[in-house]
Amino acid sequence: MSDGRIAVIGTGYVGLTSGTCLASLGHEVVCGDVDPEKVARMSRGEVPIFEEGLEELMRAGIAAGNLTFVHGAADAVHGAKYIFLCLPTPDGGDGRADLRIVHQVVAEISSLLDPGAILVTKSTVPVGTAKDIRTTLDRDDVFVVSNPEFLQEGTAVRNFMKPDRVVVGSDHRPAAEAVAALYEALDAPAVITSAESSELIKYASNAFLAMKLSFINSIAGLAEVVGADVTEIAGGMGFDDRIGNKFLKAGPGWGGSCFPKDTKALATIALDNGVSFPLLTATVQSNEEAQSRVADRIRAAAGGDLAGVPIGVWGLTFKAGTDDLRDSPALEVVLRLDTENAVITAYDPTVEKNLPAKNGYPDVTVAADVYEAARGAQVIVLLTEWSEFTAIDLAKVAEVAPRATIVDCRNILDPAAVAAAGLKFQQIGRPIS
Ligand code: UDX
Repeated sequence: MSDGRIAVIGTGYVGLTSGTCLASLGHEVVCGDVDPEKVARMSRGEVPIFEEGLEELMRAGIAAGNLTFVHGAADAVHGAKYIFLCLPTPDGGDGRADLRIVHQVVAEISSLLDPGAILVTKSTVPVGTAKDIRTTLDRDDVFVVSNPEFLQEGTAVRNFMKPDRVVVGSDHRPAAEAVAALYEALDAPAVITSAESSELIKYASNAFLAMKLSFINSIAGLAEVVGADVTEIAGGMGFDDRIGNKFLKAGPGWGGSCFPKDTKALATIALDNGVSFPLLTATVQSNEEAQSRVADRIRAAAGGDLAGVPIGVWGLTFKAGTDDLRDSPALEVVLRLDTENAVITAYDPTVEKNLPAKNGYPDVTVAADVYEAARGAQVIVLLTEWSEFTAIDLAKVAEVAPRATIVDCRNILDPAAVAAAGLKFQQIGRPIS
């Protein structure tokens, strides 16, 4: 379909989804990864992550012969026209993204690239990275393009196939246009910019969404005190087109692999460039406060002291539809309870083993179902909005935890149904009954 083969380097969430979806558009795609075992599994059509719709699409690509997996970057880039870098850019510990892996790979493949090849950064990278990559690359006949992803875990395939926009930035417009053309079949608006703008669009979008969430979570905190209802407030705000009704669901704070890292990274970029941007630090601080507010409520529901109190937890992942625990607000809340020596039993549809109390994880016994997690609990806290939680048999919960208060931090349970089961109930940003 395209006029050249695509190599995707790195098969994490972004790389595997992007490579698979690009293949499904008809392009010839070779994905390279450093983990030989993972490569073998993917070649057999096994998806190493939990992502709806990905496995079917991956198997279709493998069967059609235009999606293959190889060990290492060198084999993948051989003869490729487009090289998508989908590599980890972790928090370097000081808020700055650590780009060592990106530069190592660029140095490794530099001499292997065909003249006219286009190196595409899909990983979220700081402003100026395209320029830095050109220096590491040291090739005048190879172009560098920024093409950030806006994929949400759990709906990544849908997001890729129906994007709101495709952002492509480069100082070499023909290269940017060639990358935008790879997405032509998707019929989405292409935003062609400088590399610097493209790099910033990604950070600005994620930080803006995080700010919107921190805002509604603070409104929720206020609503609880003044007797208002955050769902009604969000509904009233969301009708205003300038605000929009998305990302206004109050919860136990926001998390995941992108928002926390990107918001802090943008704050550092602003600081490094001498630009005052207090909204970003306030966004992060408000999120920590939202998590603490949930812990405060649980402590209050337990009578003011959490030591030795049995707490049931429903949901551990950072949101529904993913098995990802990275920077999960649910874990942050549980960590606060653990610090105060609560006895925590949790259920999450994607977590099978007890969590070890290390690497910033709390000490949590993992139960086989929601009822086992609830058994004997004084407080049951719902932290992740798994749809199966809306079908919980509340009468059964009342049998195993007759004195429990349920704290629904995602506002997904029906207050009338909880009351009918005879359980005490609280939600986020709603008057406490
Ligand atoms: C995010 C961005 O949305 C995506 O564009 C980017 O490429 C990667 O980061 P993701 O991390 O998958 O995607 O999560 P997202 O669905 O955006 O949710 C982030 C957090 O916000 C979660 O903790 C979620 O529970 C929370 N959230 C989201 C709310 O609390 N309320 C909402 O209304 C929406």
